[in-house]
Amino acid sequence: MLLKKRHAPPKASAMIEALRGLGYSTAASLADVIDNSISAGATEIRLQFYWDGLQSRISIIDNGRGMNDAELEAAMTLGTINPLDERHPTDLGRFGMGLKTASFSQCRRLTVASRVKNGDLVCLRWDLDAIAESLDSDWYMLEGPAAGSELFIEKLSSFESGTLVLWELMDRVVTLGTDLNHFSDMIDDIELRLGMIFHRLIEGARPGFRLFINDKQVAPWDPFMTGNPGKALESPIERKSTSSGVVEVQCHVLPHRDKLSEEEFLKAGGPEGWTSHQGFYVYRNKRLLLAGNWLGLGKGRAWHREEPHRLARIRIDIPNTADADWKIDIKKSTARPPVFVRNWLTKLAESTRDKARKVFAFRGSPTTGIGGEPIEHTWRVEHLKSGVRYRIDVSHPAVSAVIEACGGHKDLVKAMLRVVEETVPVQRIWLDTAENKDTPRTGFDGEPNDTVVEVATVLFNDLIERKGLSVEDAHQSMLRTEPFQKYPSLIANLRKTLNE
Ligand SMILES: Nc1ncnc2c1ncn2[C@@H]1O[C@H](COP(=O)(O)OP(=O)(O)O)[C@@H](O)[C@H]1O
Ligand SMILES: [Mg+2]
Repeated sequence: MLLKKRHAPPKASAMIEALRGLGYSTAASLADVIDNSISAGATEIRLQFYWDGLQSRISIIDNGRGMNDAELEAAMTLGTINPLDERHPTDLGRFGMGLKTASFSQCRRLTVASRVKNGDLVCLRWDLDAIAESLDSDWYMLEGPAAGSELFIEKLSSFESGTLVLWELMDRVVTLGTDLNHFSDMIDDIELRLGMIFHRLIEGARPGFRLFINDKQVAPWDPFMTGNPGKALESPIERKSTSSGVVEVQCHVLPHRDKLSEEEFLKAGGPEGWTSHQGFYVYRNKRLLLAGNWLGLGKGRAWHREEPHRLARIRIDIPNTADADWKIDIKKSTARPPVFVRNWLTKLAESTRDKARKVFAFRGSPTTGIGGEPIEHTWRVEHLKSGVRYRIDVSHPAVSAVIEACGGHKDLVKAMLRVVEETVPVQRIWLDTAENKDTPRTGFDGEPNDTVVEVATVLFNDLIERKGLSVEDAHQSMLRTEPFQKYPSLIANLRKTLNE
């Protein structure tokens, strides 16, 4: 039977305008272009931002292996590479679209110049205005740079081999009203983001790799504060073999704010701030795809990014053979863990989140005493069907001392404690924590030392004089009593004074 067919090629102008709406950010687009340079073996990549109002430009130049004329033509053509093809293990590409889709999302004119070693410089260009104006709306590329833009591809001449990508008519980057200040702020933001996306390559995963923005080297941003002594967790690397390759995971709990200088704290917050940057960091060939996200995992319902878990950051490494399993999208900005790793990841995340929450809530101080002995807490948390309730623990030495010492007035003291318990300013604390993005200070945190000494001395003396404890036993008891367990040297001093 004769198959009835209709030829139905897309109209170039309509197709490209649609592709422009994929929703890339400028930083993500640049990262996609940089990926190509990395895949081409480049060790030096230079971004140049040229401010010129609506005529502003960005160029990305690399010292990779470059392309000859045929390769460049294939690279510039949409839909020449099959996403299903197997890729070299270090290749950062996938869909054969990034160069075009990333560029078109930012600009209306894309010029790519390239040269291989001992080869001539070749240059091709997509000009969306020219396509829109052409009557047949066919896919016509232009040869060479636009008139007047020759200067901007010149830099490539000094390279033995390499590629230069030039974005012009950047209608999605510079719009009416954008001024030099906006442009500079954008460059600063891009620098932070690229320093994050490529931090492992900059830090040495690719020897000699350097990334520059306007001749300034981009500094890496390590989300895991590797080597910081204040970290509460840096787990060993866990591995899982899957049909699409090995997945590696390492769990981290970052130091509490109190253990960082103001500058360290700000920096560790990353481009989007602490709350946004919690969760999984998914890397594909050492290139960061996702910076902080719970990936739809959770117990019962999906976890959200919330303040108490902001210190939890988990590194996941996947190979590029796992793209289909992880549903990597064209923008390389989403990834979904496949079913067969979800339980494993949920378990690892759960214990990391737990630890992170404790460090956040207790401001990084230990919740057990010396030698792992339990601490005498002042407050008990009761989990009832009707909700959570907070009660003062009357066995806490400071509390029991008063109840015992006041003889016939015990009831008065107990009534007072009940009033305190019933009026804990829970909502206020909750609001303050949310607003200040930190738990309020407690347990003499930040109090002048004199206050701590005064209260500790009263209690210490009471243990000895009224309760008849030996100096040594009183010392041990204080080390197990909240909040004094945080001040072991102060307690040791009290013992020393009494012993003298
Ligand atoms: N800077 C570059 N150096 C060498 N080759 C490049 C460069 N940029 C792109 N290419 C070539 O163009 C092809 C298409 O790139 P792209 O559209 O980003 O898709 P993908 O990266 O998924 O293959 C790449 O596979 C590569 O062969
Ligand atoms: Mg690519």
